[in-house]
Amino acid sequence: GRTRHLLSLDDFEAAARRALPRPIFGYVAGAAEDNRALDDNRQAFRELALVPRVLRNVAERDQGVTLFGKRYASPFGIAPMGIAALSAYRGDIVLARAAAAAGIPAVQSGSSLIRLEDVMAAAPGTWFQAYLPGTPERIDALLQRVMAAGVQTLVVTVDIPVAGNRENNIRAGFSTPLRPSLRLAWDGLVRPRWLAGTLLRTLARHGMPHFENSFAERGAPILSSRVQRDFAARDHFDWSHIARIRRQWRGPLVVKGILSPLDAALARQHGVDGIIVSNHGGRQLDGAVAPLRVLPAIAEQAGGAMTVMLDGGIRRGTDVIKALALGAQAVFVGRPFNYAAAVDGEAGVTAAIDLLRAEVDRNLAMLGATTCAALGPEHLMDRWTQWR
Ligand code: FNR
Repeated sequence: GRTRHLLSLDDFEAAARRALPRPIFGYVAGAAEDNRALDDNRQAFRELALVPRVLRNVAERDQGVTLFGKRYASPFGIAPMGIAALSAYRGDIVLARAAAAAGIPAVQSGSSLIRLEDVMAAAPGTWFQAYLPGTPERIDALLQRVMAAGVQTLVVTVDIPVAGNRENNIRAGFSTPLRPSLRLAWDGLVRPRWLAGTLLRTLARHGMPHFENSFAERGAPILSSRVQRDFAARDHFDWSHIARIRRQWRGPLVVKGILSPLDAALARQHGVDGIIVSNHGGRQLDGAVAPLRVLPAIAEQAGGAMTVMLDGGIRRGTDVIKALALGAQAVFVGRPFNYAAAVDGEAGVTAAIDLLRAEVDRNLAMLGATTCAALGPEHLMDRWTQWR
């Protein structure tokens, strides 16, 4: 296929840069302000070295993990990403279906152009991520809709009380709604696959793109004034609302965007089932600590009472393994799967999943481990710290 020459997740980035109009590629690739959080997400992984064990007969390997009572074939999943349908035709469904077929979790974003009900019909078992305003009636209404759609696992993202400062979107010419411009027209014309395969097909099927946001009215234009107002209400959201959600939500409840061990302790006190340690891929608070650096302290706070997951900067099997060895039960990957959808739709996402899965498998063997549970601090060193 179209992705045979792509040998690593980073190769998908280069291919997506060619496949997508600059404003859309910029929206996906970009982060906040000076990219310090984005860069440190990668740097934190580089600072760890792996310490393999040898002569352990690793012929029988299984990288599967159990999350909330469900078995997954790999210890990584697809992070929620808004507006994925601008990267690929019905991109949310592309991501969810590829994940389901590969036996890994995918999280549907609450700021999607595709109706949640359509995603759940195409890929039951998909997790749902909500952005919530601090208004109890709106929260209750959203939970009703999400339950009715058959969602089992609810992820509440808490690191966006206000929108991050994405100067990068302005520089790249990205806006919601996408404003027609000379650059966009040119970028589309020189990328006929995107123009015909994603934009025109989407317009033909759905008309002008709409945010099917968790709390937007159906059919409200992308980031209409109504959504903007809801954005404003997000800064009211606090732990009392998490307590309210916990009282109503019977299934697994995950809080995404925890970086402080103190907040991990609060999540645990509120009966949260899992957390995703995350700085939103560097797209919110610039200079926010890299999730990997706080993972050990947070895993200690969780103490086995909560499932601890992590995202941000995972690009290699060795990154997955480092996070697991530091106490995560699973990780999520964002941008690379968005790029893969842009490059070759569902087949592209499947190819990217297969690459990462093969890396994890190979790395487990070379580390002398046959399961993810076997990974631990014994497999890691700070690059210049003496073995203790
Ligand atoms: C995101 N992210 C995100 N998170 C969330 O909770 N809801 C959302 O709607 C979005 N939207 C979104 C769009 C795009 C284009 C990107 C790149 C990211 C953050 C995402 O879930 C995840 O935290 C990071 O992407 C993980 O970092 P990496 O793997 O992209 O480095």
